[in-house]
Amino acid sequence: MTLHKDGIAPHGGTLVDRLATPDQKAQFLAKADTLPRVTLDERAFSDLVMIAIGGFSPLSGFMKQADYDTVVTDMRLANGLPWAIPVTLSVDEATAAPLVEGSLVRLDDPTGRFVGVLELEEKYTYDKAREAMNVYRTDDEKHPGVKVVYDQGAVNLAGPVWLLERDPHPLFPTYQIDPAASRALFRDRNWKTVVGFQTRNPIHRAHEYIQKCALETVDGLFLHPLVGATKSDDIPADVRMRCYEIMVEHYFPQDRVILAINPSAMRYAGPREAIFHALIRKNYGCTHFIVGRDHAGVGDYYGTYDAQYIFDEFEPTELGIVPMKFEHAFYCTRTGGMATSKTSPSTKDERIHLSGTKVREMLRRGELPPPEFSRPEVAAELAKAMRVPEAVS
Ligand code: ADX
Repeated sequence: MTLHKDGIAPHGGTLVDRLATPDQKAQFLAKADTLPRVTLDERAFSDLVMIAIGGFSPLSGFMKQADYDTVVTDMRLANGLPWAIPVTLSVDEATAAPLVEGSLVRLDDPTGRFVGVLELEEKYTYDKAREAMNVYRTDDEKHPGVKVVYDQGAVNLAGPVWLLERDPHPLFPTYQIDPAASRALFRDRNWKTVVGFQTRNPIHRAHEYIQKCALETVDGLFLHPLVGATKSDDIPADVRMRCYEIMVEHYFPQDRVILAINPSAMRYAGPREAIFHALIRKNYGCTHFIVGRDHAGVGDYYGTYDAQYIFDEFEPTELGIVPMKFEHAFYCTRTGGMATSKTSPSTKDERIHLSGTKVREMLRRGELPPPEFSRPEVAAELAKAMRVPEAVS
């Protein structure tokens, strides 16, 4: 691992900052009505933010064709640096046609607010089926990540970007801790080793177990739930954040945990997204990253541990963050605690594990998930969110 003034080096060595300076912002605002306009969808807007705050370092803009091609085929940027997911701004042909390479483009958020600027260096078409097969390992349009690729425009607009203003998150302003700030926090707490945790689900006992197993061996835990775009049947971010607040308050030593939001969008790309998630947490200053069962997976598209095997395709030094790999964790009735097959001799029927779908069904029926699956305070919060009576347990 490369040492850096804040501990671990960001990916590529420098934390990218693409927030417009006050002067740049004034110049851009003066041109607001004359620049050609592109409206970003929720994902592209969160990508713009992630680039600007350095979460996607070393990217300083939406990918040009040379980077896009090598990322899709080889999981590397054109300069050889590992990178697993294309970060592109895709628009339809009618939108792209009048835009001139070499000029500035005004970027609006989904509500039509002027939020950023793209210096358009390239526009190019791309092969959606190739992107789907390489990145998502399937071209099935039922896959939520593949569906986004098939639904988006046929032309990628590429070049460096600026974000005009870093607005506080409307729902979670106190948890908006951007990479420069998280690095400073880790430094202030004198954490030399920090493990990052990605999640898009309400916290359950297996999550807590692997977080705490990891925390036994490092200085701090960076709980980093994703609050960008997710598929519609995932539990909303505000509910998930309330569950995390409850957990941190009741079940964690507060001086060893930092809860913060990850503004980016889910891709559901399983193994490739695990690499992407790890590199993002490296940029936030983490030295380690948790990868459990079917990380960032959806349906049956990926093998249970594919997201762990993919780390073997890189030299540890080129990733620069250490994956902490965990087997499928469950509540073990034989040993009376959380475990995995690595630590418990239990048989299958001595293991309690519930899928997210099963838990949602239980909540809908008015049942609370059992304490072996979920801490009671979290179960109650979920029940409240799903508007079911709490009486039935
Ligand atoms: S994810 O799409 O963000 O990966 P989720 O929030 O469910 O989904 O998972 C967060 C992390 O916990 C991932 O690393 C995942 O592999 C891990 N994980 C979830 N459930 C289990 C489990 N029962 N055992 C081991 N790891 C798990």
